[in-house]
This record gives sequence, C-alpha cells and structure tokens, in this order.
Amino acid sequence: MSQATDLYCVMGNPVAHSRSPAIHARFAELTGEVLAYERRLVALDGFAEGVRDFAAQGGRGCNVTVPFKTEAPALATHCSERVQLAGAANTLAFRPDGSIHCDNTDGLGLVADITRNAGVALQGASVLLVGAGGAAAGVLGPLLQAGACQVTIANRTVAKAEALVQSHQALAAHLGAQLAASSLDGVAGAFDVVVNATASSLAGDAVPVTASVLRPGGLAYDMMYGPAAQGFLDWAAAHGAVPRDGLGMLVEQAAEAFAFWRGVRPPSAQVLAELQAQLALQAH
Ligand code: ATR
Repeated sequence: MSQATDLYCVMGNPVAHSRSPAIHARFAELTGEVLAYERRLVALDGFAEGVRDFAAQGGRGCNVTVPFKTEAPALATHCSERVQLAGAANTLAFRPDGSIHCDNTDGLGLVADITRNAGVALQGASVLLVGAGGAAAGVLGPLLQAGACQVTIANRTVAKAEALVQSHQALAAHLGAQLAASSLDGVAGAFDVVVNATASSLAGDAVPVTASVLRPGGLAYDMMYGPAAQGFLDWAAAHGAVPRDGLGMLVEQAAEAFAFWRGVRPPSAQVLAELQAQLALQAH
C-alpha cells in the first residue's frame, strides 16, 4: 500500500519567484526523503487562514516569506529562542498532536554560508550589519552566537538600529560581545565582515555606506542574490573586499528548515554548487 506523501510549502505574497520548491525537491531526492513541496500564494490579509487551511489539509510544515515572517510567531504554540529574539519566523512545523512549532533559520543559514561555504571565521570578527528591518533582525542573534565580538548596526532610521541593539543587548553581554547602533554615514572604522541587509538596491539606490567600512580582503556579503545584489558586489570588489551574494544563505536556511522538519541534514554544499552552476548558465 502506498504511503501518503508528506506535504510542505512556502507561503508568501509574492511567491512565484521562490526557489524553495526546487531546493527542497533536490534535498528530498538526495536524502531519499519522500515529500512534496509547493508554492502557496496567500492574500495579504489571509496568512492565518492560509496556515490553518494548509494544516487542515495535512500539511506537515511550511516556510514563510515576505511579508508574513513577523506574523508567523503568533500562530505557533512553541517558538524557538531565535524567533523570540528576531520577532519573526520563517519555518513552521505542524506536529501530529496539533501543536505548531516555529523557528527562524535565516540567521543559521547566513552563518553556515559565511563560515562553512565561504570559509570565513566569525569567531572574534567585527561585523557591520547594514539595515535594521526584518532581514537584519533575523540574523543578528545567530551572528552573535557564532562568535562575532563586535557588531555595529547601521540604518537609515537610526531608532530601528537602536531597538535591535536593545533587544539583543542581554545576549551580547552574555557572550561578551559589543553592540552599537549607528546612522549610515556615521560608521567609524573598517570591519572584517560587512553584511548588507537593506532593500536599498530594490529602490534603485546606491550602496548606502561609504567604502571605508570595507577592509582589504574582508568579506562583503549581500543577503540578496541575482541583479538585486550586483551593485553591492561590484562596489565591494572595486574596493578590495571579497564579495559574496545570498544564494548560499538561501540554500543553507532551507537545509536548516529541512533538518527541523525531517531530522535529516541534506547535502547543502552540493545543492548550492548545482544552483550556482545553473544560474551561471542562465546568465550566459
Ligand atoms: P526586510 O524584511 O527585507 O528587512 P524591511 O523590514 O522593510 O524589509 O527593511 C528594509 C531595510 O532596508 C531597512 O533597514 C530600511 O531602512 P529603514 O529602516 O530606514 O526603512 C532599508 N532600506 C530600504 N530602502 C533603503 C534605501 N533606499 N537606503 C537605505 N536603506 C534602505
């Protein structure tokens, strides 16, 4: 008798662009896990209903993308510490007892891509996090937990950077790390790692910080990939830093979600290499 296939999805609006279905299908293939993963476009005011419907239809878990990440924790019965710190979740798991567990794997994905795939140590590193929106909030805790000893958050709206400092101050103090908030043009010094977590390129604007924040040979990471990241990557390379886009973060956050659901770690580095090769082919 055939077993019912476990069903997963990514919910968002828009969601048509999402690469998550292809990534999870490949993870399933490579690990031998039997599952289906689809895209679900939900109405902007229909996230809670979409989650309820999916769970009622036997869904086992879902990824959450724009603009619903901050709505997701309220629907869960159990939130990880990462979710509580970030105030946002990107992964929900529907357990057989009806409970809903949520996690935020974005920061774990960023840290895994920087340390494992790019081979750059975060232990003892100074980090400039540019941006203080949802994307930045999701990665600050994991950056600190990975051992960054000094993190400066620079944002157009300084009050949002200050709020992130405040919400992460206890964790930073516990880990012995320094946290600071800054305006975009008030950043002093250069950093081992600069992470762009702003949406400025989507607004058609230039990189929002001065090149003096870059250290020669330091890592300059844009959490986006494709054309949205290109301006930042070109700018970083032109000033002697090592540019890296967010494709690896995308694959690694998916791998963390896959492990959260299935208890099996997929070969993420292989899937990232395949995706990079596919995208390089498409670009030519
Ligand atoms: P996300 O979930 O992608 O983080 P968000 O929460 O809307 O989206 O945050 C967008 C981030 O990009 C914010 O840090 C925002 O700065 P503000 O907090 O001042 O709005 C930043 N951002 C967006 N457009 C920008 C621009 N043109 N220049 C500089 N920063 C910009």
